[in-house]
Amino acid sequence: MSVDVTEDVRARREEMVSLRRDLHAHPETAFREERTARLVAERLAAFGLEVSTGSARTGVTAVIQGNAPGPTLMLRADMDALPIQETSDRPYASRNPGVMHACGHDGHTAALVTVASILAERRNDLNGRVLLVFQPAEEIMGGASLMIEEGVMTDPPVDRVLGFHLWNGLPVGQVGVKPGAIFAAVDEIELVVKGTGGHGAMPHQTVDPIPVAAQVISALQSLISREKHYAEGAVLTIGRIQGGTAFNIIATEVEMKGTLRTFDEGLRRQILARIPEVMAGICAAFNAEFEFRHLQGCPAVMNDPEVADFVRRVATKVVGEANLPAVVPSTVGDDMALFQLRAPGCYFLVGSSNADAGLDAPHHSSGFDFDEDALMVAAETLSRATLEYLG
Ligand code: NI
Repeated sequence: MSVDVTEDVRARREEMVSLRRDLHAHPETAFREERTARLVAERLAAFGLEVSTGSARTGVTAVIQGNAPGPTLMLRADMDALPIQETSDRPYASRNPGVMHACGHDGHTAALVTVASILAERRNDLNGRVLLVFQPAEEIMGGASLMIEEGVMTDPPVDRVLGFHLWNGLPVGQVGVKPGAIFAAVDEIELVVKGTGGHGAMPHQTVDPIPVAAQVISALQSLISREKHYAEGAVLTIGRIQGGTAFNIIATEVEMKGTLRTFDEGLRRQILARIPEVMAGICAAFNAEFEFRHLQGCPAVMNDPEVADFVRRVATKVVGEANLPAVVPSTVGDDMALFQLRAPGCYFLVGSSNADAGLDAPHHSSGFDFDEDALMVAAETLSRATLEYLG
């Protein structure tokens, strides 16, 4: 059986790019991907696939049943855009004010639709089945968990899961594959330091929460610099701080929100446990009270070593050994992690920047765009991986 799909992808390039540009011009944020889902479902149905919609509200799934029995391979793409005003004047720039595909999910969706088209045509080469999952709401870490709750991975049971992220951190033509963590665990935390307010001229009559909050913030950074092995990655950012009303009034409380990024589950639990301990010590020292809330969290995206090795070999055939640079894990998060907790999988990076063409703005920025040749690499790698795994 030939697994050379270069021609299959090339023949679909125009269609793939035009779908990507259509999605880019009509971005929809988390759980509002209605037009996107409709377009995806229409395309999949046109390939003769049985499509189901409404999974996790706006998700779309479809199964490509192979010719013979075998394992189930899940391929996942996310579909949502971000609440960002696009600054580009490209003809396919967003027509929805304040909403933009600034992470490349338009490309993920278009590439997976193309992969579906190729695999549907080659279904006689497949022993087993392909489960196509077009997930909503990745950006708010809501879509994957809901789809899992609704049983997307159990009926049929999923044996392996693959997905990719377009990545402007790598030039187009390169692919990043690594075993173990590729994206970080993301935790959102809320900290409140409570004092007693009063006149700014008479701090001795109060418990001023602002200097206490300042000490808390400094001390928390010591958890990163002093309490973990230097080689283990972790980032703790307090991104929001709010307290007080006027220059001459001592505040009653200070509220802070932050994010913790880690790659090791043990370290993640350790730091999450230490944050309230550090707060308790500092607040007790200055007679303040505190609250700590772990608002939401998503584990790290962990690539199974064997599956990552398999994807690496496939990608080598697509882009060549020289275009598989060593990659370090990124501190961004992705709820692909939840699918990969339930089946061994690999999430790989598809290089998509092209500085010469001005296509190298960072993800989640208002000028984000990518080199569409990356879609060819993504579609070819995924199609080829599927045909080899189920071949
Ligand atoms: Ni993304």
